Amino acid sequence: MATTTSTNSKEQLTTTQISPNTPDAFQGTPSYTVPGLTLEQGAATAAALQRVLNTYNDLHLTLKHVHWNVVGPNFISVHEMLDPQVELVRGYADDVAERIATLGSSPQGTPGALVEQRDWDDYSIGRAGAIEHLAALDAVYVGVISSLRKAAAETEDLDDVTNDLLIGHLHEVEQFHWFVRAHLENAGGVLSTAGQNTEKGSARAATS
Ligand SMILES: [Fe+2]
Repeated sequence: MATTTSTNSKEQLTTTQISPNTPDAFQGTPSYTVPGLTLEQGAATAAALQRVLNTYNDLHLTLKHVHWNVVGPNFISVHEMLDPQVELVRGYADDVAERIATLGSSPQGTPGALVEQRDWDDYSIGRAGAIEHLAALDAVYVGVISSLRKAAAETEDLDDVTNDLLIGHLHEVEQFHWFVRAHLENAGGVLSTAGQNTEKGSARAATS
């Protein structure tokens, strides 16, 4: 679930430059936005947030999929480790969707919109052991965090409030990524997934 976002600056972003995958609701300028932003800045911030909303909606579903499909000796620890993160990410999706609405745009939260707009594939592992799923989640979180950091950078000059929201999310998401990676690290501090950038490649490397 590798994710990518635009790195356009405040000056470069206009509503006409938004990705062709952006929903219709973002193709036009909203009729209002928060005080202090231009309508174009409000629309550009909302477009960046829509990509984050897609990332979060995909992530919390993926984490539940792992919660249901992890098997083996470490089942219960991984099964139970994931649920608080699912709830956190669901809450983050709600934060982002409501910020989009606050900015005067329409958050797109349907499964169809997510599938149409995302530029990554479904999580690729089904029933499997704990280390395989954790290794795959390492790759997932690399994509998610890279995407969140790009969105945070995009909004840094556009909207301080949205930027602060995303930075706050990153604190927790990056800590959970460490929880995942701690299972894949040896006493020398080396990750078993080092050098891998796909879910299946990471899973193979961690179990070989
Ligand atoms: Fe459950």
